[in-house]
Amino acid sequence: MGFTVVTLGSQIADEGVALLREAGATLVATAAYPPKDEMIAMLTRHRPEAVMVRLVKRIDEDVMRASPSLKVIAKHAVGCDDVDTAAARRLGIPVMLATGCNAQSVAEHALAVMLALVKDLSRQDAHMRAGRFDKSLYHGRELRGMTLGLVGLGQIGRGFARMAAAIGMKIVGYDPFAPDSAFEAPVARVRELDTLLETADVVSLHCPLTDATRGLIGRREISLIKRGAYLINTARGEVIDEAALAEALASGAIAGAGIDSFSVEPPPATHPFLRLPNTIVTPHVAGVTDDAKREVSLQTARNVLAVLSGAPPDRRYLAN
Ligand code: GLV
Repeated sequence: MGFTVVTLGSQIADEGVALLREAGATLVATAAYPPKDEMIAMLTRHRPEAVMVRLVKRIDEDVMRASPSLKVIAKHAVGCDDVDTAAARRLGIPVMLATGCNAQSVAEHALAVMLALVKDLSRQDAHMRAGRFDKSLYHGRELRGMTLGLVGLGQIGRGFARMAAAIGMKIVGYDPFAPDSAFEAPVARVRELDTLLETADVVSLHCPLTDATRGLIGRREISLIKRGAYLINTARGEVIDEAALAEALASGAIAGAGIDSFSVEPPPATHPFLRLPNTIVTPHVAGVTDDAKREVSLQTARNVLAVLSGAPPDRRYLAN
C-alpha cells in the first residue's frame, strides 16, 4: 500500500527511513523548527497518513487538522510536551513515543556531565589553552561518597543510578509517580522533594515536562539545594526557573550546572547559561547519540507502521 509520512523538523535517521520506504511510504520533511504556517501548508499539500515529529516548537490542533488523512503522530523522542496530546485524543489520533530507546544515552550523558563538572574539566581545559599550566587552579573532587539526588525514576533515572552506584555514590530518588519497584537498591526513596534538594551533592532531573513538573525547581527549591552542590538538567528547560538558577550559579551557591535543555530552543545568544563559566551547555543532545538516533528512528517508524496496519496502538508507546 502507498502512504505518505511527513516529518516535521528534519528527517529521521536512515534506518527508520528505510523501514518506512520498504513498507511503501513516500517521505517528505521540513527543516528544523518549521513555522506553524509552513507545517500547515506541508500537511495540506501532502495529506499524510502519518506525521513524525522531531524538532518543532509545538504541534497543535490546527496543524493536526491540516491533513484530513492523518491517523498517527509519532514523536521521534520520548518526551511529548511539544504535541497537544489532548487535541490529538479529541481527533482520535494516537500520539506514539519511542519510549526507552534513548534512555541509556541520556543516562550516560548525565554521567559524563557529572564527571566533567566535579572534575572541573571545562575550566582546566580553558586554563591550559590560555597558557596556564597551574595545578593550584584545580579543585576537582571525588564522587565516591557523594549523594546523587534523582528527580524522576523512569528508565533514565534508574540507569543513571546504577552507573553512579558503581562509582560509590549514594543515591536518593524522588518520584511520586514511579512504582515502588523503581526504588529498589541502589536507590533510597525520599518522599519530599525538599529533602532530596537538602541532601544531594548532585541533583539530576529526569522527569517529563507535565503540568505537575513545570517550574518544579523554582527559586525556593533552588535556595534549598546544598551550597556547593551541582545540578544537571537533561529533562526539559521549563522544569527549572532558569533565571533563579543563573543567579545561584553566578553567586557560587550552586557550584556548577550541566544543562542540555532550555525553556526556549534554540536559546537566545544572550542566555545567561551560555556566559557562566561554571556551566556545561549542550544543544539538547543527550538522547541523540548516533546509537540512540538509530534506535529512536526505528521505533518511530515501527510505531507509524503498527498504527497504519490497523492494530490497536501499543500501550507501551502510547502517549494519549
Ligand atoms: C529527548 O529529549 C526525548 O524526549 O527523547
